Amino acid sequence: MNKSPNKVFVWPISTRIIHWMLAFSFTIAFIISSYEEMLHDHVALGFIFGIMIIYRIIWGFIGPKYARFSTFKLNLSQLKFYFVEKIQDRWRAIPAGHNPASSWFTIWAMIMGSIIVTSGMLLYGIQEAKGFLSFLNDNYYNQMDIWMLVHKSASYIFLFWVFLHISGVMIEQFYHKTNMVLAMITGYKRAKGEDTEVSKKLNFFAYSIIIIAIATYSFITSSNYNFLTSQKFTSIDYKAQNPIFVEKCGDCHKIYPPFLLPKASWSRVMRGLDNHFGEKITEANITKSQQSTIKSFLYANSAEKSTRESSVKIMKSLGKRRPKAITKTPYWRERHKDIDKAIFKTKEVKDKSNCIACHNNIDKGMIDDMDITIYRIKKNKD
Ligand code: HEC
Ligand code: HEC
Repeated sequence: MNKSPNKVFVWPISTRIIHWMLAFSFTIAFIISSYEEMLHDHVALGFIFGIMIIYRIIWGFIGPKYARFSTFKLNLSQLKFYFVEKIQDRWRAIPAGHNPASSWFTIWAMIMGSIIVTSGMLLYGIQEAKGFLSFLNDNYYNQMDIWMLVHKSASYIFLFWVFLHISGVMIEQFYHKTNMVLAMITGYKRAKGEDTEVSKKLNFFAYSIIIIAIATYSFITSSNYNFLTSQKFTSIDYKAQNPIFVEKCGDCHKIYPPFLLPKASWSRVMRGLDNHFGEKITEANITKSQQSTIKSFLYANSAEKSTRESSVKIMKSLGKRRPKAITKTPYWRERHKDIDKAIFKTKEVKDKSNCIACHNNIDKGMIDDMDITIYRIKKNKD
C-alpha cells in the first residue's frame, strides 16, 4: 500500500466498524431512552452495544496486535507519566496502539458497558416483563427501582466517560496535532511501529459478529411478538372471566383493569356507587348480587395481586392512601404530567379518564408502551 514512512496501519476496517457501532448504538439508545414508544429500538440498540462489548472482550484476547489487552499500558505510573508529559507538551512518542489513557478508557468502558447491558436486560425482564428474561418478573418485581438506578447511573457515568474520551481525542487532534480522529476513520495513525495484520479467520469472525448484531436489531424492531419482545402478560378476555363486570362497569366507560387500584380503593368505589363521579348508580342498574360478584372479581385481581409494572408502581406511589380513581394516584399523575393539558380536551380524548383513547388495548389489560397512541393524536392536531 502507498503510504508515508511515519504512518502505521493500526485499525483494520472491522475494528473501525465496531468502534463506530459501539459509539452510535450507545448515543442513539441514550437519546431515545425517554421515549416510551421507542422501547424496542432502545433495546435493539442495547443488544448491538452488548454484542459489540462481548466481541471487544474476545477481540482483546484473540484479535490483532494493537487490539490485544496484552499490549495495553495499564501501569499506573505510565498513566501518570503520560499525563504529566502531555500537560507539559513534552510527550512526543506516539504509540501505534493504545496509549496509557486509552488503554484505561477501553477497560473502563467495557466494565461500565457490561453493567449497562446486564442491568438493561434485567430491567426489560423484571419491569417490562418482556423478552426471554420476562420470567424474572414473578419473583423480582420488587427490584424494578434498583435496576433502573443501576442502569441509569452506569449510563450517565458512561456518557461522562465518552466526553472525557472525546476531549482527549480533540486535544490530540488540535493541540498535539497527531491526527487521531482520522485514525479511527482511515485506520492509519501517524506513529512509529509495524502495520497490523488481520488473518482471514479473524476477519470472518469480526464480520460475522457485525452481521449478527444487525440481524438482532432488525429481529427486535420488526415484531412485538417474538422471544425478544413479547410480554409475559398477554391480553385478558375480561368478558370471559366475568361477563357481569364487563357489562355493568363497561356501560358508561370502557372497563378499567382491576390491577390498577388496590383492594381498599375498589372497596371505596363499590361502596360509593350512589355517587359515582357524579353518576347515581342504584340497585336498579346493578343489583346487590351483581355488585358483590363484581366486588369479589375486583378484589381478586387488585393491584396487590399483580406484578405488572403499573400495579407495583401504583402501590409504591400510594403509600397509605387509597383514592377512588386511578387518575388520582401519584404514579398516574407522574406518568402523565408531561402531556399537554389541551390534549386531554381534544375530541378524540375528551377526558383524562378516557384511557382507551391513548392506550389502545387497556380494556384487555394491556398497557404496553408500544400501544400508546397519544403520539398519533399529537400529530393529527398539527
Ligand atoms: C352510569 C355510568 C357509569 C357506570 C355504570 C360506571 N361508571 Fe365508573 N365512572 C363513570 C363516570 C362518569 C366516571 C368519571 C370519569 C369519566 O368521565 O369517564 C367514572 C369513573 C370511574 C373510575 C375512575 C377513573 C379514573 O379517572 O381513574 C373508576 C375506577 C370507575 N369509574 C369504576 C367503575 C366500576 C368498577 C363500575 C362498575 C361497578 C363503574 N365504574 C360503572 C360512570 C359510570
Ligand atoms: C392523552 C392520552 C392519555 C390518556 C387519556 C391516558 N394516558 Fe396513560 N399514558 C399516556 C402516555 C403518553 C404515557 C407514557 C408517558 C411516558 O412517556 O412516560 C402513558 C403512560 C401510562 C402508564 C405507564 C405505562 C408504562 O408502561 O409504564 C400507565 C399505567 C397509564 N398510562 C395508565 C393510564 C390510565 C389507567 C389511564 C386512564 C385512567 C390513562 N393512562 C390515560 C397517555 C395517556
